[in-house]
Amino acid sequence: MSRLKGRRIVLGVTGSISAYKAAEVVRGLVREQADVRVVMTREAGAFVGAVTFSALTGHPVAVEQFPDTGMAGEEHVDLAAWADTVAIAPATANIIGKMANGLGDDLLSTVMLACEAPCCLAPAMNFRMWRNEAVQSNLDRLRSRGVHVIDPEFGLLANGEEGDGRLAAPEQIVEAVAILADPDHDLAGCNVLVSAGPTAEDIDPVRCVTNRSSGKMGYALARAAARRGASVTLVAGPTSLQDPYGVAVEHVRTAGEMRDAVLANREGQHAVIMAAAVADYRPGTQAPRKMKKTQESLTLEMTRTADILAEVAADRPPVLIGFAAETHDGLDNARRKLADKDLDLVVYNDVTADGAGFETDTNIVTLIRRDGREESLPLQSKSDVADRVMDEVAALLRNREVVPA
Ligand code: PMT
Repeated sequence: MSRLKGRRIVLGVTGSISAYKAAEVVRGLVREQADVRVVMTREAGAFVGAVTFSALTGHPVAVEQFPDTGMAGEEHVDLAAWADTVAIAPATANIIGKMANGLGDDLLSTVMLACEAPCCLAPAMNFRMWRNEAVQSNLDRLRSRGVHVIDPEFGLLANGEEGDGRLAAPEQIVEAVAILADPDHDLAGCNVLVSAGPTAEDIDPVRCVTNRSSGKMGYALARAAARRGASVTLVAGPTSLQDPYGVAVEHVRTAGEMRDAVLANREGQHAVIMAAAVADYRPGTQAPRKMKKTQESLTLEMTRTADILAEVAADRPPVLIGFAAETHDGLDNARRKLADKDLDLVVYNDVTADGAGFETDTNIVTLIRRDGREESLPLQSKSDVADRVMDEVAALLRNREVVPA
């Protein structure tokens, strides 16, 4: 179950060509069962219809400060008090300027004046407006008051030019909102390192030995830790996934590079979670040029790679967690890994089960704890598995008094 479930989010939508993307933001939040109410400016209505948002949220969309409904005109205060979190996406230079200067001349700007909840905004505008000194100084003022700014992307803009100012991807905005809206941030102040994805060991400049890991499980862990307030470093092998919002990502390719990146970031971590499918062997030599198929058969001599988890275990962080991807004798192998590598928890993955293991969006795992308690979890999304693992991390850190009980 998503930790966004039941969280009350007010989403402000302002008049930008990218306003249509706000529908994707709403969908992402509603998919995670957040209770979303949309406040649109009149200008936003020139780009996207209120019906889109009311259909997606199940709530009427608020536009007018003084609607002709016989109400007391207190909707701005009611909405601001109702919200656990407020986000504005897209946020124009106009709403940014109004917020920075305390102006309220329509419903959204007065909601923001009355708002005491955590707030983020995702600017979108032409790059010339984005680099305008007044816009940047308004953003600095807002940041200094604790407003979280989701930086726009570089890319193709509405007028066909390229530059900074494109609205951040809807999934990134959802992630930023989820971080702000988390109910208790029980990993605040903690540093968590996660490894994810496969490694690729080169045979020659065009061929490599790799495996089927997509990185989805490890990325879900990094996202879950970030949502709960941790400062997260993700060491990722080659994947096609977008870097998770608010996570420091180090991209690596080989087992050797992954080892170096994990060990270089090891200092100061409160929890290390190795979900990567690291190659156990790599070709002993790499041909400098593409190998030609002149022979009938080819024998590759493989060399053992370093066991990263074992190296981290030699100088243990307060919490150390490994994964075990198995096809047979899984529980026994996983229990052996827990003992051999002095782990707090092994997440055992029978990668032959339907809906589990590599590439899928779901997983079926058994948590094997150091004290012998084992718990088989039913099929669920990798995000939910990640949250269960983070429950364990938070409990272990509390027991070890790394975070307050
Ligand atoms: O990426 P996805 O498509 O979402 O798939 C998810 C997953 C199946 C890759 C993931 O859930 C998983 O099970 N990851 C561990 C895969 C694995 O390599 O398991 P293992 O039993 O070979 O290794 C045991 C542990 O030692 C793992 O924590 C691994 O990261 C670590 N290890 C392994 C080899 C090595 N040289 N160094 C290591 O640190």
